Amino acid sequence: MSEKVYDVSAEWAKRAFIDQAKYREMYARSTSDPKGFWGEQAKRLDWIEPFTKVDNASFAPGNISIKWFEDGVLNVAWNCIDRHLDKRGDQTAIIWEGDDPSQSKHITYRELHDEVCKMANVLRTRNVSKGDRVTIYLPMIPEAAYAMLACARIGAIHSVVFAGFSPDSLAQRITDCKSKIVITADEGLRGGKKVPLKANVDAAIAKASGVDWVVVVKHTGAAVDMNPTRDFWYQDAAEMVTTECPCEPMSAEDPLFILYTSGSTGQPKGVLHTSGGYLVFASMTHQYVFDYHDGDIYWCTADVGWVTGHSYILYGPLANGATTLMFEGVPNYPDNSRFWNVIDKHKVNIFYTAPTAIRALMQSGDAPVKKTSRKSLRLLGSVGEPINPEAWEWYYRVIGDERCPIVDTWWQTETGGILITPLPGATKLKPGSATQPFFGVVPEIVDADGKVLEGETSGNLCIARSWPGQMRTVYGDHARFEQTYFSTYKGKYFTGDGCRRDADGYYWITGRVDDVINVSGHRMGTAEVESSLVAHDAVSEAAVVGYPHDIKGQGIYAYVTLMTGTEPSDALRKELVAWVRKDIGPIASPDLIQFAPGLPKTRSGKIMRRILRKIAEDEPGSLGDTSTLADPAVVDDLVQHRQNKK
Ligand code: WTA
Repeated sequence: MSEKVYDVSAEWAKRAFIDQAKYREMYARSTSDPKGFWGEQAKRLDWIEPFTKVDNASFAPGNISIKWFEDGVLNVAWNCIDRHLDKRGDQTAIIWEGDDPSQSKHITYRELHDEVCKMANVLRTRNVSKGDRVTIYLPMIPEAAYAMLACARIGAIHSVVFAGFSPDSLAQRITDCKSKIVITADEGLRGGKKVPLKANVDAAIAKASGVDWVVVVKHTGAAVDMNPTRDFWYQDAAEMVTTECPCEPMSAEDPLFILYTSGSTGQPKGVLHTSGGYLVFASMTHQYVFDYHDGDIYWCTADVGWVTGHSYILYGPLANGATTLMFEGVPNYPDNSRFWNVIDKHKVNIFYTAPTAIRALMQSGDAPVKKTSRKSLRLLGSVGEPINPEAWEWYYRVIGDERCPIVDTWWQTETGGILITPLPGATKLKPGSATQPFFGVVPEIVDADGKVLEGETSGNLCIARSWPGQMRTVYGDHARFEQTYFSTYKGKYFTGDGCRRDADGYYWITGRVDDVINVSGHRMGTAEVESSLVAHDAVSEAAVVGYPHDIKGQGIYAYVTLMTGTEPSDALRKELVAWVRKDIGPIASPDLIQFAPGLPKTRSGKIMRRILRKIAEDEPGSLGDTSTLADPAVVDDLVQHRQNKK
């Protein structure tokens, strides 16, 4: 834990929208008069029909209901595109940087308008209309942005599935939200490697029913199978439609998108976000957290398949009329200078990435960084997982040349936008701390019984009241929404994260306290990996936990009990890794597999995951009481045969 504190520079205090006094004043107002505060903030958007009600949210057991600006009418695409055309039609909205460094392009707001309208019209020719679900399985190409905004324009609900997910994972998501249409590309390209997206879609549809249309964007030009009654090329269809498409008037509470995310139990759940509150929150957080001013070049390295891509590549920046960079590639291709070369090439001022990328690049030393200039950089951001102070310092010192504040932003798919974060002109920084709550956000740290802990303390992180960007429900399963987030601590939203608050009131997120692991900033449910493992013929039982991993933050550690008569071997270990990889996707690949003759269970048959975690973390000294186990001897065997960290 670092004791270092970095003050806000005089220059930052002066240039930023929010300095320390303003933060205090606005934060106080946001909690004492939320209706007044958010009513004013919502004016940052264009409303077709103004709202008269601001918030209407209840966290009461049995009646979880979250509404913001509920009688207002607006269109998200209008707010992200059309309303900017008069003033900034010729300004670049999106800078696209390809996987191949020779490929990039600038898309103006005017061009974005035309492209989004074309995509929207293509969808309309296939009878997609308000409320229909559209699954988007695309690489980081401009068409991904066009497709999302096209849905918003016509009132369809997009469900973007990260292009690294397997056909089975895609099928599950298509089925859950009953999409009749899937938008994909022939192939994706990452780090020079091709990803067979269209073939994956074909394999997914073989398992999912109800898909009438597959729109295929020609990207690499690879030959792919086309089903003549179902599949068509996007570029051909786009030639047949106009560049004008009216915006569908949407209630503030009409759904904007579904995004599947992993939880402690069961299959991924469809997090539902709606239109008005989400956009107000994405826009406002983007402006203030990144201190975005007109003309700035802003780059968030996330993928649009994750919430960070939704809120901070697309919706927040475009609502603010920003220039946002969209990067198809990876940090280490063609070499480890890629991020910094892109920053120099496009004169990026604000750079937002994940700790896992920083840690990976840190391993190759300062040289790949130092041969680039990075003098355009003004602000750095971090998201997705706790950033360890060593990585923070390296980011600050080597990437930012000790000139750029770092905003360590804590939030979740469920929160829609950033909830705990420094503001660069207002907040002193402590490496490793997400610092202070954003406006309107009331964090509470509670103990296991739900008692609210005051002052310097640590426990489980809850949020006491609603904010506009909050998810509204689990798509198609409101009971699961209540069960997952509001049943552990009644009357509060439970984040699933552990947290410490220091003597200065700064928040330090310590990681998940539930059965979710955070691998390279990606959420993975241990239950998902377990159910994949036990689906293999050789496996009788599996238990999956996280363990500290130098680069990924957490790695996936699997304990596997084999069927009687099956012998453990390295070959089987490899086979199981490949199995999970194919079943869920590369991000779910177990890092370590330990063959376990037995798992530690209580006498009632419950697996004691706490013990498995401690063994995986290599802390056999703190296993705690094992006397209640049905067979305490299994623990000795597990400790003895622990797999080594990679
Ligand atoms: C973790 C990503 C520490 C946390 C936006 C959370 C973080 C989960 C931070 C959500 C941070 C995200 N510091 N931990 N700055 N940001 N997390 O839904 O455990 O993919 O619950 O949203 O990531 O991951 P998700």
